[in-house]
Amino acid sequence: MVKKSRLRQKLLKWYDANLRDLPWRDSHDAYAIWVSEVMLQQTQVQTVIPFFRNFLKSFPTIQALADANPQELLHAWAGLGYYSRVRCLQKAAQEIVKKHVGRLPETYCDLLALPGIGRYTAGAILSIAFNKPYSVVDGNVTRVLSRLFLLTEDSRTSKFRKILWNLAGQLLSRNSPGNFNQALMELGATICSPRSPACLLCPWNAECLARREGLEEQLPRKTGRSESVESQQAVAVVGHRGRYLIVKRKGARILRDFWEFPGCEFKQAEDLRHALASRIHRDLGLKICLKDRLVTVKHAITKHRITIQAFLAELNPSQPTPTKSRITRWVRLSEVDRYPFGSASMRILKALRDRQASGVM
Ligand code: ADE
Repeated sequence: MVKKSRLRQKLLKWYDANLRDLPWRDSHDAYAIWVSEVMLQQTQVQTVIPFFRNFLKSFPTIQALADANPQELLHAWAGLGYYSRVRCLQKAAQEIVKKHVGRLPETYCDLLALPGIGRYTAGAILSIAFNKPYSVVDGNVTRVLSRLFLLTEDSRTSKFRKILWNLAGQLLSRNSPGNFNQALMELGATICSPRSPACLLCPWNAECLARREGLEEQLPRKTGRSESVESQQAVAVVGHRGRYLIVKRKGARILRDFWEFPGCEFKQAEDLRHALASRIHRDLGLKICLKDRLVTVKHAITKHRITIQAFLAELNPSQPTPTKSRITRWVRLSEVDRYPFGSASMRILKALRDRQASGVM
C-alpha cells in the first residue's frame, strides 16, 4: 500500500501548480465560500462563475440574503436550476441571523442543523473557510477515489458511501484540509474525467489501481441506472399589442414561483395545437389562434427529458378577456427580465427576441 502521506504530498503539489483561478478562491469570507459550494453542487464551474459574482454583488452578506425579496433571489438564481437550493440558502441565512448573530457557525453540528447543509457542504465550509479537518465526498471525489483504490462495488450503496467517506477522511491532509479537498475535486473535474481521463497528467498515475488494471473508465460502477422519463410539452407565446402573456407557476414542486408561457403536457398521439388551445381556454378563459412554431427546446432535469414545442399565438377575438384561476401578466419583452424564468423558458424568450430582431413577426 502506498503511503498516504506520499499521496497527499503529490496531490497538493499538483494543485499548487494547476489550480484554476476561480473567484471564490480569492475569498476568505465563509459566506462567499458557502454560496459557491451550494452553487457548485449541481452545476459546472464555468456556469457558476458569473452567477456567483452577480449573487454576491446583489446579496453581499448573510444579513442581506436573509432580508432579500424572495422573487429577487429566485431571479438571481434563474438559469442555475435546482431552485430549492436558493430557498434553503435564504432559510439558513435567516436562522444564522437569529441564532448565530449573522455569522456562519464553525462547528459541524451547528452547520448540519441548518436547512440545505448536509455532510458535503458542512465539510466544504469547515475545511475551505476555517481550515478544519473535515473531508468532502461529491461526484468528482467519488470517481477519483474509486479509481485510485479500485473500488468495484456499486457506488450507490450505503456500504460504498461509508467506505468512501472513510477513505476520504484517512487521506485528508490535516495541515491543509481546504486545499486538499479542493485539489481532490479539481483532479476529478479536470483530469480524472468520466470518459477518457487524462491519466498521463495525473499526479497519482503511478499509484492508481484502476489504471493498473485498465479499468479506469469502468469506475465508479453504477448498476440499475434509473431509466429516463420522456415527456412532451407545448406552450403558446401569446402576443397582443406588443405584450406577451406569462403565467406564474402554481403549486409546482419544481420552479415554484417562477413564470412561464402558458401550456400543457400532451401525449404523442394528440392533436397538439388543438390540445394546447383548449387547455389555455380552460385554464385562462382565453381563446387563442396558434401561428408558426417558434422553437423546440429540449430540457433535462434529474431523470426527466422534456421536449417543449413553443408556438406563436394571437388572441381571438383580439381583446384580452379576464383570466381565470392563474396569476398572469401581459409584459413587453423589455420588461420580462423582471420576472424569474427557468432555463427552458429563457431559451424560448431568446428565440422570441431573435425572431423580433430579424424582423420576422
Ligand atoms: N466542486 C465543488 N466545489 C469545488 C471547489 N471548491 N473546488 C473545485 N471543485 C469544486
